Amino acid sequence: MLTPVRIGVLVSGGGTNLQALLNAGQSGALHSGEIALVLSSKADAYALRRAEQAGVPSAVVERRGKSAAAFEAELLQKLREYNIELVILAGFMTILSADFIAAYRDRILNVHPSLIPSFCGAGYYGLRVHRAALDYGVKVTGATVHLVNEIPDGGRILLQKAVEVLPGDTPESLQKRVMEQAEWVLLPQAAEQLSAELLANQNAKRGERV
Ligand code: GAR
Repeated sequence: MLTPVRIGVLVSGGGTNLQALLNAGQSGALHSGEIALVLSSKADAYALRRAEQAGVPSAVVERRGKSAAAFEAELLQKLREYNIELVILAGFMTILSADFIAAYRDRILNVHPSLIPSFCGAGYYGLRVHRAALDYGVKVTGATVHLVNEIPDGGRILLQKAVEVLPGDTPESLQKRVMEQAEWVLLPQAAEQLSAELLANQNAKRGERV
């Protein structure tokens, strides 16, 4: 029996994507990895309550009042303290530096609320993404789960799902539909997929040593 990959989820807000991951852990849909830590950049993030309700350890590393380097050093320290092997950005509102990304190369997942390469990159987050999609007049949008590299929203795409834009949509109504139909479905799937890959790699390495 292989030990599940230890996942750290980074959040800044409501945490509905975190909830989807927690639910997938409970249902068994996510079984190659386990949520071992929730790290929030905001002390009042509702995501922290979700972690508590699920009995998952959590910690706050405030972004405010410190340099980006100091913030990332604290994040990395917490991730190491909990032996985190895979990092998931679930509504985490800070762009991470190349140094941070190098520490978890190909082991950071992000969910973005559009079909990349549309409406993505620096400045496109949360409701702004949906406002931009509506302003442009696209008829189809969606969500993307991708690996994180040095380019904001530029890493390898793992999963995407399209969602219809409906007449009369507001940024809020579109955000809700994209979450329900795409983000909450894709993120747990991608988490299981990448966890299973990491486990298989660990196993292959163990085999080489025998
Ligand atoms: C989600 O829609 C997520 O895709 C988006 O923020 C929201 C967080 O909601 N992330 C980005 O825009 C990142 N560029 P949640 O806290 O309820 O999961």
